[in-house]
Amino acid sequence: MSDGMTAPENKFSQTLAALGVTRPDQLAPLFAEIRARFDADATAAHDEATWKQFRDAWLGRKSGVLTQVTDNWLKPAPPELKRVVGQELNKLRAHVESEIEVRRLAIEAGADDAALARERVDLSLPGVKRPIGSHHLIRQVFQQIEDIFVSIGFSVVEGPEIETPYYNFEALNIPEFHPVRDDMDTFYLELPKGAPSPLLLRTHTSPMQIRTMEKRLPPVRVIVPGKVYRRDNPDATHSFAFHQVEGLAVDTDITFCDFTGTIEYFVKQFFGPGVKTRFRPSYFPFTEPSVEFDVTCVFCGGSGVSAGGGTCSKCKGAGWIELFGAGMVDPAVYGFVKYDPKKVSGFAFGIGIDRLAMLKYGIDDIQVFFQNDVRFLRQFP
Ligand code: DAH
Repeated sequence: MSDGMTAPENKFSQTLAALGVTRPDQLAPLFAEIRARFDADATAAHDEATWKQFRDAWLGRKSGVLTQVTDNWLKPAPPELKRVVGQELNKLRAHVESEIEVRRLAIEAGADDAALARERVDLSLPGVKRPIGSHHLIRQVFQQIEDIFVSIGFSVVEGPEIETPYYNFEALNIPEFHPVRDDMDTFYLELPKGAPSPLLLRTHTSPMQIRTMEKRLPPVRVIVPGKVYRRDNPDATHSFAFHQVEGLAVDTDITFCDFTGTIEYFVKQFFGPGVKTRFRPSYFPFTEPSVEFDVTCVFCGGSGVSAGGGTCSKCKGAGWIELFGAGMVDPAVYGFVKYDPKKVSGFAFGIGIDRLAMLKYGIDDIQVFFQNDVRFLRQFP
């Protein structure tokens, strides 16, 4: 203490005689001083650790304040003071003990409250919502195409991605040394010696034409969504895995008009009624005649001129965009499935889904379909 008075701790480390206390009436202020000191100390005990320090400082057996008061004041007190010192000390002890207990309870309760507050579960809070993903854009486009064809009487079938050369090529009228196989130079599986047939990852969904006709008699109206594989180097329009929807309709009376009408209906449903279609002669071994279907450019509306006035970069000014290949089923194919080419006729088409999705949604790099970057996927919830 700076006021020159003897500090309290010093007081109880000395005897009453040394402090100049000789009359009983001097004792009450002396004890009041210690009690005030105790009350001040008590406020510092705010958690378990500080409370223990505080308790030991006051009640410690060897050097606690009360022990010192007992040893230095009570024990050596002259007979005329002893009784009052004893009474004062008892009062002080009762106060100290009860306050220390009160403090302990308060700290415990406080700790409990804090723990409760920390661990409290608010049952009224809404639950944690786990976002359930959405369909990949390719899956969405598959679905759109399926919906259109199902609405006009087609059914959906799926087939194996690992095929035999027979289904992938031969039965589609592509014999072993036919040049179109070069385009489909592809992934063959390594098989143990003596395997009954080589196997490859299908290069198109067309093998399902054969598998379907083997199983069903006409009328046949199916579409085949699925993955296909080719040994292409990845760039903005090529990927070694991509997606197709095959279509096949065979019946006793299917004409070229049914064919073009169906395709036109599909394209208008898919891109909107404003587009026009046209077909150009083409070649596929399994269709005769074969065509390539084009649609008026969905970016420039068929004008060949971009919004900014320059040449449309998507159709390169042509106003038309090549969509997919198709044709009337080549009679030779019916021979592989034991249909009578004199009695049946039909058409087939093979739509590249990635390309269609890119056109419809203005995507200029096929690779984004396979990278699965959520920043891309989120744009098509
Ligand atoms: N399979 C062909 C390809 O992947 C696409 C195709 C063209 C399928 C004409 C057909 C068709 O059914 O009639 O290149």
